[in-house]
Amino acid sequence: MVPSTWIPALLVLILTLLTYPVASDWTATPFNAPSYPLAVRTPYLSAWHPSPGGGVALNHAWPEFWTGATLGWAGFVRIDGVAYSFLGDSSVSNFTKASQTSAKFTSTRSIFVLSAGPVDLTVTFLSPIEPDHLVKQSLPFSYLSVSAASNDNSAHDVSIYTDITGEWLSTDHTASINWTTTAADEVITHQSQLQHQTVYTEDESRILQGSVYYSTRHADGATFQTGHSTTIRSHFIQHGKLANTRDTNYRAINNDWPAFGFARALGKVTKESPKYAVFSVGHVRDPVVKYIQKGDTFEGRSYYFWSAYSTVHGAIKAFLEDYLSALSRADSLDDTIRSAAEDISSEYADIVALSMRQTLGATELTISGSPGSWNTDDVLMFIKEISSDGNINTVDIIMPAWPAFMYLNPKLGKYMLLPLLQYQATGQYPNTWAVHDLGAHYPVANGHNQGSDEKMPIEECGNMIIMMLDYTQRSGDHSLVKKYSKFLTQWADYLVKNTLIPVNQLSTVDFAGPLPNQTNLAIKGIIGIKAMSVISKKYLDDSDAASSYSSTAASYLKKWKTYGISSDETHLTLEYGKGSTNVLAFNLAMDKLLGLNFIPDSVNSMQSTYYKNHLEKYGFPIDSRSTYTSAEWMIWTSMTTSDSVRDSFIKAIHKWLSSGTSDTPFTDRFDDTTGAISFNKNRPVIGGNLALLL
Ligand SMILES: *[C@@H]1O[C@H](CO)[C@@H](O)[C@H](O)[C@H]1NC(C)=O
Ligand SMILES: *[C@@H]1O[C@H](CO)[C@@H](O)[C@H](O)[C@H]1NC(C)=O
Ligand SMILES: *[C@@H]1O[C@H](CO)[C@@H](O)[C@H](O)[C@H]1NC(C)=O
Repeated sequence: MVPSTWIPALLVLILTLLTYPVASDWTATPFNAPSYPLAVRTPYLSAWHPSPGGGVALNHAWPEFWTGATLGWAGFVRIDGVAYSFLGDSSVSNFTKASQTSAKFTSTRSIFVLSAGPVDLTVTFLSPIEPDHLVKQSLPFSYLSVSAASNDNSAHDVSIYTDITGEWLSTDHTASINWTTTAADEVITHQSQLQHQTVYTEDESRILQGSVYYSTRHADGATFQTGHSTTIRSHFIQHGKLANTRDTNYRAINNDWPAFGFARALGKVTKESPKYAVFSVGHVRDPVVKYIQKGDTFEGRSYYFWSAYSTVHGAIKAFLEDYLSALSRADSLDDTIRSAAEDISSEYADIVALSMRQTLGATELTISGSPGSWNTDDVLMFIKEISSDGNINTVDIIMPAWPAFMYLNPKLGKYMLLPLLQYQATGQYPNTWAVHDLGAHYPVANGHNQGSDEKMPIEECGNMIIMMLDYTQRSGDHSLVKKYSKFLTQWADYLVKNTLIPVNQLSTVDFAGPLPNQTNLAIKGIIGIKAMSVISKKYLDDSDAASSYSSTAASYLKKWKTYGISSDETHLTLEYGKGSTNVLAFNLAMDKLLGLNFIPDSVNSMQSTYYKNHLEKYGFPIDSRSTYTSAEWMIWTSMTTSDSVRDSFIKAIHKWLSSGTSDTPFTDRFDDTTGAISFNKNRPVIGGNLALLL
């Protein structure tokens, strides 16, 4: 018997349970991601599945571009004549939603299992990461694979349907588009593009140039259709195949929403013999980047993959044929990364896994030349800052992201630094410090010949010297430091003059504004001077310079300690002499990165204790000006802390990432207590989450 006084409370409880959105009833491995990467390979191929709160099933929402713009991407399966949806939130009739039973992410894949009546579907989104194959890494394509197996003891007749809409081309739905379908040889491809294109130009972070390609192998009774999204989806639902018809009434994205569909008839499927169909989606443009040369002239650069394929269709055919090998490479990369990261902890491995596609997805690998005479020795990689602004090859974006590239293949780091070095070597950049970025708007790398780039002189001089030494030590390739030694010297000398008492200026955490005498900025510069002494000695054969830089660094370090440590000797201050301020001193980690053993243990252990005593729910704030903390800077910092503080940082980030508070790609800045996110999302800087793997 329930005591009568409990009844009202019980009623409230029951009503609450009925109306409150219940947590998802599928298993999420390792946890429900704020947003799952679906097709994430370049700044413009960036499709995600937001999954806030307790999680959202794959067929209860539309995929989104990283900005939040909807991307029509639908998936249906027809089993013994009965239709189920597995992808997207279509409003056509006569189907039921398959029921999601699991969601999983690895470094390269997002994998969803949905049960559709008597058949289980495994829907795999694979965005390859190919650090050792420049051709493959530069292919701006991603895979969708749908595998079907009976979940009872009978055989079932299965066909798979999927389409994309014109929303993959622009966020402006009034834009006119056209499309063609090529159903030749082994591959069927829908190619679509904006009617009015503007080379190298973005609108709302989308590129107004190039084409989207949706493709599948011409196998298993493949059929296609283009037309109004509801027409072609309904056609499949009713017939289990498409009409092989082309709608040639080219129109705006939102004018009877043109969609580009495929169906694949898998035939009889059993528990023992699952069958699958693979689709590829990609966005190709040529040229890719406009890159400044001597005399303020420009070169158009193309994707590296052109050195191997003379047509986009050839590249797509090879990409589709390569699926099983790509899957096995992805599997082994996922395992390698996971087991390396698990040496720290399984929480750490989870954070790393969700960082990989986003980091690589901000980059594009390019070559110069033209068809028939590509210059494959001239490899440059470009990286977009993404949400903070659209800058190209920002030095203090490459620096935080650096560990991912050093872990995967140090050459990728060289390919990102070279565009900056070559530009400065043309003599057009007028300042004596290192340039901040190569241009305000990706993909235009037009330099800063007026010298009016965002001014972060100590930050970028320190970053360039540190990254160039790190690359050289890891790769054994001395060419970069030798060829650009003039600039290394110029920047080191700038630091010698300016880093001990930094004037009012910005550092990488520019959202918080400028400050004079930043303790954490000054030490980056001092470590930069120390790094230059190593470069001078080991690679430039200049022992006089080496000993001069080395003794300057040592004397600066001594003074820096007296300026930067609070008078009660408990912590480093944000600003010299301001004992009430504090800072996440991530630049101390540059000493660990380079293996210099320059920073005294006493400084690291003082900070470690301070972090331990002032840790908030979701971590330690970037500095005392705000309650924002940063995943990658906490991980970087944990190179310098005790293992227990490192583990608390990792747990705090993991707790935030799995809390359901965010619905965007990995945010690198969030409130230390509420978990509220900043506008920084989908940035490659979270490549820094791999710092502990170096
Ligand atoms: C739904 O199915 C019914 C019965 O097969 C059919 O009459 C109707 O046209 C279908 N509706 C759509 C929108 O396909
Ligand atoms: C589609 O638009 C592009 C860009 O204006 C144009 O080059 C192409 O010829 C058009 N294709 C068709 C099929 O109209
Ligand atoms: C910066 O710190 C130095 C050393 O403590 C001090 O002499 C100088 O006045 C400070 N500058 C500013 C602008 O606070």
